[in-house]
Amino acid sequence: MKNKRVLVAPSILAADFSQLRVDVCLAEHAGADMLHLDIMDGHFVDNISFGPDISKIAISGSKLPAEAHLMVREPLKWAKKFKEIGCEYITFHDEAVRKSPKSSPNLEDAIRVAEEIRKEGAKVGISYNPDNDLSTLPGIIRYIDLVLIMTVYPGRAGQKFLEEGFLNLKKAASIRDKESPRVLLAVDGGINLDTAPKVIAAGADILVMGSAFFEADDYADIIRKIKAI
Ligand code: DX5
Ligand code: ZN
Repeated sequence: MKNKRVLVAPSILAADFSQLRVDVCLAEHAGADMLHLDIMDGHFVDNISFGPDISKIAISGSKLPAEAHLMVREPLKWAKKFKEIGCEYITFHDEAVRKSPKSSPNLEDAIRVAEEIRKEGAKVGISYNPDNDLSTLPGIIRYIDLVLIMTVYPGRAGQKFLEEGFLNLKKAASIRDKESPRVLLAVDGGINLDTAPKVIAAGADILVMGSAFFEADDYADIIRKIKAI
């Protein structure tokens, strides 16, 4: 099986922060296609990562398109900032735009958030946790550019790939293919050389890779291996 479209997006959450710029530069030289920035606010997820200032340092000097994966309660509070520092894609969570994290999905608010992000001039992504049934995806898909399917629960790098997320990936691929083939399908969490073949076969266009990428001895080699799948 050969899939020319697949893009590799290293998640800098797993990079060496003592030499962040160097790691980003090495990833770019190795042939990475995008940069993935994991933004955590300590509310939507039980962890805090980094904000726009560190992100700006990380991506400035790189020509790669960057995606801000906003794992935050208030995506609209941050979208403009991440667009300003140069992110091309701003991705928010379906679970973050509900009245409360446990209440039902809210298509109207999700569309409003997507439209507000678009007004900032950014491309829009929506992300779904592994236990989300994707009920808002058919309704929002024409307002977005990217779907980010989580194959771990967000919060940290280095977790195990979850099959329920993989089922969501297949479901998202079928919705995307039917409703809006131009939308990119990204997968995030536990992606490595073992899990990559099945997510590529399921239709993923973008493979977000944290630990498997930055823990590799040779970044170019892992990209080559992914692209050869
Ligand atoms: C998890 C993040 C991921 C994470 C991926 O909250 O959204 O982007 O960095 O790391 P790995 O590839 O190690 O699962
Ligand atoms: Zn992420």
